[in-house]
This record gives sequence, C-alpha cells and structure tokens, in this order.
Amino acid sequence: MAETIVALDRVGKAYRLDEVQVEALKEVSLEIQAGDFVTIAGPSGSGKTTILNLIGCVDKPSSGIVTVLGRRTSELNDDELTELRHHAIGFIFQTFNLIPVLNIRENVELPLMLDTNIGEEERRQRREWVDFLIENVGLADRMRHRPAELSGGQRQRVAIARALVMKPALVLADEPTANLDSATGESILRLMRHMNETFGTTFIFSTHDPDIEHEADHVIRLRDGRIVENRRKSMVMDAAGMEGMALQSSLRLTGRHGS
Ligand SMILES: Nc1ncnc2c1ncn2[C@@H]1O[C@H](COP(=O)(O)OP(=O)(O)OP(=O)(O)O)[C@@H](O)[C@H]1O
Ligand SMILES: [Mg+2]
Repeated sequence: MAETIVALDRVGKAYRLDEVQVEALKEVSLEIQAGDFVTIAGPSGSGKTTILNLIGCVDKPSSGIVTVLGRRTSELNDDELTELRHHAIGFIFQTFNLIPVLNIRENVELPLMLDTNIGEEERRQRREWVDFLIENVGLADRMRHRPAELSGGQRQRVAIARALVMKPALVLADEPTANLDSATGESILRLMRHMNETFGTTFIFSTHDPDIEHEADHVIRLRDGRIVENRRKSMVMDAAGMEGMALQSSLRLTGRHGS
C-alpha cells in the first residue's frame, strides 16, 4: 500500500480584498501518494497556485485540514513550518527565481548554505552531490555561468537541480513550463519525470496545458476552486491496479519518456 504524503480534508481558502471576499478553494479533499508524479490542472483563476501554496506551507487554509508528511500544517508554528519547507519541500517556479549575481553552481548550492554547522567531510560530500545534480540536469559545462547567460529551458534545469539539493520528499512546481516553448517545456517535464523515477521524489506540478498533463500519474483538475476530476492511473494493488501499472511501465519503455 503506497504511503500518503499529502492530504487535504475539506479545505477552503478565502482571500479578502477590501470588502470583497474571494473563495479560491471550496471543500477540497484529496490524497497524494508518495512517489507519484501529479498534476494540478485547470484554467486561470481555478485555484492551482493557492493549492500549491497550502501544500508548500507558504499559506494556511481558512478551513479544513492540510497534512504534509504526516504533519497538520495548522498545528505548526512559523519555525516548524520553515523547517518543514526547508528540509522536505523543493520549489520550482514559472519564472525560475534564480539569483542573478550567483553562478549556476552557487544557485544550486544555496539552500545547503543555510545549514552552516557542518564538517569538512560533509562539505566534500555536498560538493559532489551538487556536481552530480548539475550533471544530471545536463549543465556540467555551465557551472560558472550566471543565469542571464542561459536559455529559459536551461534556467529551469538549474531550478530543478536547486529544488532537489536538500533531497526533499516533495517538489512543488507552479506552471514550470509556462514560460517555455512547447519542445523545451516537454524536455523539462521529462527531466522532472527522470528525477521522480531516480530519487522517488513526489512531484506536484500545475499546468493549464493539456499536452503536459498526460505525463502525470495522477490528474487533479480544478474549476472555480473545486475539484472536478481526480484520477490516478495506477490505483491500489488489486488486479486492475496491477494492469494499470503494467500499462504505465510499457508506455515508459516504448519511449514516451525517451529523449
Ligand atoms: N493574494 C490574493 N488575494 C486575493 N485574491 C487572490 C489572491 N491570490 C489568489 N486570489 C484569487 O483566488 C483565485 C484563485 O487564484 P490562483 O492564483 O490560485 O489561481 P490559478 O489557478 O493559479 O490561476 P493561474 O493559472 O492564472 O495562475 C482567483 O480568483 C484569484 O483572483
Ligand atoms: Mg497560478
């Protein structure tokens, strides 16, 4: 039985702007299994970013319960939330959010720098890990470049490496392909899938591109703050589930995720 990594139980989120109250999420309940590659789909304004912010412990729900890695986020104080974010969750943004004055290597290494109290041996292992990640996203020859010297797709590759540097259980990506042409967007998605399969990291990415959501194991579709579709390709391990799994792996082997 797969482990649940994220659960929302009748979650509501209301934003108040002056006199106007916007209900961005209404009674949203869902479960996400560890190791899955999940998409939050839906049109503009449907609540995708809001849901990712709640899962990412950047914001708290107005009602209902958000559980991330077994912790109820509403019961955590700010320090505990920061700790959970730093160690368990990686973020990838639509606009890449790299630091312009740092080179690629330094950008990837940055989250590690927040953990200062480490010895020389650990430091050496970290350098190797950072190199390994940068190689894995295909930028070994760009380590000393600054973000401005890279293409959009390359910048997003850096952001993927940075999101993984803390070895998080969960990576959240808010429209990671929105600023890329479709071929580059597909290659970014394949890279995320590769990382999902290599490290078992759970990925949750939002998109409003129907071509991209096909890549996901689990599609959660929002409209006007409500779930209108919640479909997981490989269900529990009953016979039908096994077939689903077999189908999925054969799709992978026949090159849908090949280069
Ligand atoms: N900080 C805020 N204050 C007030 N209203 C907000 C705020 N953030 C989001 N909203 C509203 O909540 C609703 C959901 O917004 P959200 O950003 O989650 O949508 P989205 O699906 O990510 O859209 P997009 O595809 O355009 O990024 C929208 O109606 C939006 O106007
Ligand atoms: Mg959004």
